[in-house]
Amino acid sequence: MNPLTIALPKGRLLEPSCELFRRLGWPCDLGNGSRQLVVTETADRPDGPTPLRFMLVKAADVPVYVEYGAADLGLVGQDVLWESGRDVYEPLQLRFGRCRLVVAGVPSQRDRDLRLTTDLRVATKYPGLAQAYFRERGLSIEVIPLSGSVELAPLAGLADLLVDLVETGRTLHENGLVELHEILTFQATVIVNRAAHRLRLAEIRHLLADLDQADQEIHPRS
Ligand code: PRP
Repeated sequence: MNPLTIALPKGRLLEPSCELFRRLGWPCDLGNGSRQLVVTETADRPDGPTPLRFMLVKAADVPVYVEYGAADLGLVGQDVLWESGRDVYEPLQLRFGRCRLVVAGVPSQRDRDLRLTTDLRVATKYPGLAQAYFRERGLSIEVIPLSGSVELAPLAGLADLLVDLVETGRTLHENGLVELHEILTFQATVIVNRAAHRLRLAEIRHLLADLDQADQEIHPRS
């Protein structure tokens, strides 16, 4: 049988994701200056040599690869997963990659009653999640979709508010912005293709248990 294929996300979750596999015996030699996008590696596991195929993809594409079955499993942030709306199975949450999605703005926005405001412009990398948050509160907004440096938008007069991730809070603070509301909290998660989960259940369950164990060992107090 083909080795299970794992989609790993470029960016800040790559290193902690690879660390899990390294702990289990796969070198996970992707992304460290190499331009190779797919590698097959074999680890000596207690029940014998076990090959896995690793693919390096843009974080936002991990759910796409997994939904279509081009990858059996993927590691990704829940922010990216939930924004994508992709139909995948999410059986294991990991103990790293914690962050929050918040509404933020310049300090004077604190005193503004959003219910009395029309034509509110909100800059974000998460148009779906932002729209859903404001819609649930009966507020109609115009989403300004951006792909990065979202904190600049209210400073440059492009938007009234922003919806973005906060990890340490440093980016907001250094740009004189304040958090106004928390929308959601996220962590890294493992996703699985639905058909693969049925067809290769034993193998996938085994790998998920090993990943959970490795995660607990690396992040014991999380
Ligand atoms: C993320 C996020 C915030 C920042 C939050 O951006 O979009 O801008 O990190 O982190 P902090 O609370 O620790 O400051 P990223 O670094 O991925 O870059 P980007 O803005 O270009 O997307």
